[in-house]
Amino acid sequence: MTDRELFQLAARALDNAYAPYSHFQVGACLLSKDGRTFAGCNIENASYGAAICAERCAVSCAVSQGVREFEAIAVAGRESFAWPCGICRQTLNEFAPELKVICGNASTGEYTVATLPQLLPRAFGPKDLAGRD
Ligand code: THU
Repeated sequence: MTDRELFQLAARALDNAYAPYSHFQVGACLLSKDGRTFAGCNIENASYGAAICAERCAVSCAVSQGVREFEAIAVAGRESFAWPCGICRQTLNEFAPELKVICGNASTGEYTVATLPQLLPRAFGPKDLAGRD
């Protein structure tokens, strides 16, 4: 799967975004190490704090199906870039600290590739709690 193909799947997931409050629609698609893809979109709520971002929606989809090892995630905003928020960076770090992150604008097709360590340097994660059980 190429970066562009994964980005296109994220852009397709945008169509299911439920964003009646922010009107900022986001689609995401995770690529697992075994080559499967798991899409997600942002899902807002009248109680604003209950909203879930597209990235965490995709992670929930994968993990709830027993998949926990990931290569890459693509994130698409409808008319602008949508870099993962801090909570999503932390959630992604839980499962894939070396993840590739492809972020772009679905309407222009432009995207940029980064790594999770670039987006979340000096991360706190499972390694910091190892050996405590
Ligand atoms: N949002 C995402 O789904 N992913 C991002 O990368 C950035 C923000 C959503 C959350 C909320 O529904 C809307 O975009 C505006 O913050």
